Amino acid sequence: MELQNDLLLRALRGEEVPRPPVWMMRQAGRYLPDFMKLKEKYPFFERISNPEMATEITMQPIDQVGVDAAILFSDILVIPQAMGIEVQMVPGKGPYLPNPIREEKDFDRLVTPDVYDSLGYVYEAIKLTKKALNNRVPLIGFAGSPWTILCYMVEGQGSKEFSTAKSFCFHRPDLAHKLLNAITDATIAYLKGKIEAGVDVIQLFDSWGGMLSQKDYAEFSLPYLDKITKALMDDVPVVLFGKGCWYALGDMSKTGASALGVDWTVTPQQAREFAGPDITLQGNFDPSRLLSPIPVIEKMVKEMIDAFGTQRYIANLGHGILPHVPVDHAKAFVNAVKNYQK
Ligand code: CP3
Repeated sequence: MELQNDLLLRALRGEEVPRPPVWMMRQAGRYLPDFMKLKEKYPFFERISNPEMATEITMQPIDQVGVDAAILFSDILVIPQAMGIEVQMVPGKGPYLPNPIREEKDFDRLVTPDVYDSLGYVYEAIKLTKKALNNRVPLIGFAGSPWTILCYMVEGQGSKEFSTAKSFCFHRPDLAHKLLNAITDATIAYLKGKIEAGVDVIQLFDSWGGMLSQKDYAEFSLPYLDKITKALMDDVPVVLFGKGCWYALGDMSKTGASALGVDWTVTPQQAREFAGPDITLQGNFDPSRLLSPIPVIEKMVKEMIDAFGTQRYIANLGHGILPHVPVDHAKAFVNAVKNYQK
């Protein structure tokens, strides 16, 4: 079935577009008042594991903000859950894993998930969302990068440094690679199921990639992103978003990914230089800049597109939208892309 708005897919294929497509990382949830109401009533894992509710939340930014793509309401931490590791979401604090992986014997608790069994609710949500979208815009499915998932599975919670996770990798690289391989296999199975269920694009979030030096990134993150990308790229376009790892853009562009996400700590010119001329770039508006007055947002969006160019480019934020962004400001961002004139 033809999509009514296929700007995102065209930009990912490097085809000519009349204007760049626009969506916002973490656009589903967080800042929309209708989402806040559901958040007050239902705990996090109830919201993501109920396909009707996940569909409703996924649709909110399509109907209310007018983005060019939907991203399924879910979380990267469903993978450790499916692998047998308990994940709690503590209101106001974030993820908490009471029994993290720290030593060899902890691997006894890991299971190889049957994704259709443990994550069937995600596939159900995708099917319902595709129906609700009725071919208006493409649907993005996602997962965390194995490195970012390892960070949570070992650290047991969010962290400024992830020093427990890094120390684990540096003391027991053998165990780190064993864990990264297990996460990679589970993620590939999970994402193949998402593609079968109907997602049009896959994005991998390497949110904590920038915690690593370039050399450690090459050991602990890149090979696994590469393996996942190569397993999926014949079926759907793959987008790799690494937070803080501009130094890896060149290597990431060689994985077979269709696009690379960039954050706001690099200029569009630098990102293009590192990534090379052929790959599509996505980003990189500072999410805090959505708190600026609307005319400033409009001016900065124009400057961003002037710098990236309108082709092989997907307008987005440089990381997830913040919970306290006024909806008007999010709309102003999206409309400034839609109304762009050189
Ligand atoms: O557009 C969307 O928001 C779709 C759904 C989505 C969620 N998490 C829902 C969520 C996506 C794409 C994610 C990805 C995710 N989750 C990442 C990668 C992107 C990034 O921001 O770097 C990471 C690192 C996580 C892990 C995670 N989940 C954290 C750190 C937190 C707590 C802080 C927060 O709000 O991000 C979560 C909880 C979470 N995931 C919430 C939502 C809407 C908030 C909790 C709640 O609603 O009760």
